[in-house]
Amino acid sequence: MNKSVRKAVIAGNWKMNKTPKEAKELLSAAAPLVKDADCEVIACVPFVDLQTAIETTQGTNIKIGAENCHWAESGAFTGEISAVMLKEMGVEYVVLGHSERRQYFGETDETVNKRTKAALASGLKPIVCVGELLWERDCNITEEVIARQIKLDLWDVTEEELKNVIIAYEPVWAIGTGKTATAEQAQEVCAFIRKTLAQLYTPAAAQGVTIQYGGSMNDSNADELLSKEDVDGGLIGGASLVAEKFVAIVKAASK
Ligand code: PGA
Repeated sequence: MNKSVRKAVIAGNWKMNKTPKEAKELLSAAAPLVKDADCEVIACVPFVDLQTAIETTQGTNIKIGAENCHWAESGAFTGEISAVMLKEMGVEYVVLGHSERRQYFGETDETVNKRTKAALASGLKPIVCVGELLWERDCNITEEVIARQIKLDLWDVTEEELKNVIIAYEPVWAIGTGKTATAEQAQEVCAFIRKTLAQLYTPAAAQGVTIQYGGSMNDSNADELLSKEDVDGGLIGGASLVAEKFVAIVKAASK
């Protein structure tokens, strides 16, 4: 099996951007332009935009994701949102372990793992983010860091559940910096992630997993990044906030 068995997945990660009104405008503009996309198209949006996003994309091929979820089904966790709540609304995906959550909100591999398990149990498809810091790359420990994240974040996730997991490789130094990893660097780490998955599960299971690249992917560099064997799509921040740019990346993935 090779790339031809995996469908490319382009997901926007809006972060803390767009009010519900703006979400409606952006999704209404993008939906008709991606209707013939030959890849999966997802918009991961702030919690308050989810209802509007689901309504606006009804009958289109844009799927909706959240940007985080809690691991408990319900309980005394003021301010949190559970995977069960998201699923009942019609949310299909959830971004977990994003480096901004690791950096600013105390996210650890243990909590990423708990959230991943909860998301899968409730029927959401997690987009699990991993990536090294610049310091870690400079110290030549990128593979150690990535292997550790993959092993811990997916601890106790079964081979059957793995079919619903997307991995996003996002080198932290490339996020929101305009500094994209080269296509070779992206390929190298995405291939390493697949090798790690093959060791943890089976080579066949690893071949089926969609591995995205994320970090300053845009309409000008998407073609080259997506041409690489193990880069199956993108998790797009800044460029997903502008319909034309996001649509251009979806088109690059549809080739
Ligand atoms: P960026 O963000 O495309 O703005 O670098 C990517 C991400 O954080 O998912």
